[in-house]
Amino acid sequence: MIDKLLFWKKKKEISGDLLEEVQKHPVPRHIAIIMDGNGRWAKKRAMPRIAGHHEGTKVVQRITRIADKLGVEVLTLYAFSTENWKRPQGEVDYLMKLPEQMFSTFLPELIEKNVRVQTIGNFDKLPSHTQRAVQKAMDDTKHNTGLILNFALNYGSRDEMVQAVRKIAEECKENQLDANDINEETIASHLMTNKIEDPDLLIRTSGEIRISNFMLWQIAYSELWFTNVLWPDFTEEHLVQAIYDFQHRGRRFGGI
Ligand code: IPE
Ligand code: IPE
Ligand code: MG
Repeated sequence: MIDKLLFWKKKKEISGDLLEEVQKHPVPRHIAIIMDGNGRWAKKRAMPRIAGHHEGTKVVQRITRIADKLGVEVLTLYAFSTENWKRPQGEVDYLMKLPEQMFSTFLPELIEKNVRVQTIGNFDKLPSHTQRAVQKAMDDTKHNTGLILNFALNYGSRDEMVQAVRKIAEECKENQLDANDINEETIASHLMTNKIEDPDLLIRTSGEIRISNFMLWQIAYSELWFTNVLWPDFTEEHLVQAIYDFQHRGRRFGGI
């Protein structure tokens, strides 16, 4: 409720339409979102948690469309964490079916819109039917040059770092790399995000003010934006509001 009021209040303060306003300034090149609150959205409606996840995938599609329209280069969506395996088996099973469900209707649109699907996370540990659906989306869009829609699937930042350190150690052992030459670039290039720029803007929905093992290295200088809105209630207007706020912050990167 407060979110909504603030949104409309802010909207009135600025001249013209908020969408037009944000299009006058550079938009964040990489937006990352911790999509949280599906379970609570369902609970509020006395529905099973999976109903919230189902609703959440509709929001994924709407937010992808608006990000594409605004010219965002990368949209990273935290869909399943390395810790989410702790959930009841039925919920995990349902979450693992969502990519098939969503891409069955959404993939043709992504292909048409020149969107490229990518993932970060421990892909090999996903059920094979999930891997197949996601791999097909990646294969069918691999030549697309527009928005990169990057799903963090079975992703954990600490797991990513462990794997990076292992690879770096291996390269040192094989004499491909001198330990004294290891720098920030070495580490960044061994992370799963590799060639993807760090997020400019990180959004988390549902009122939780924490990072939950998401892109710990990459968000060093990201602007953080939190909202109480639950992910299934998150709209295009909320994204535009987050971008508007981002555009009115002063990023200094340690300078003055
Ligand atoms: C986010 O919503 C989706 C995933 C983590 C897979 P949650 O399922 O965490 O919803 P809450 O936080 O319990 O409301
Ligand atoms: C973070 O949400 C992971 C995803 C959104 C996929 P969680 O709901 O799993 O995070 P915690 O448990 O509240 O920290
Ligand atoms: Mg949650």
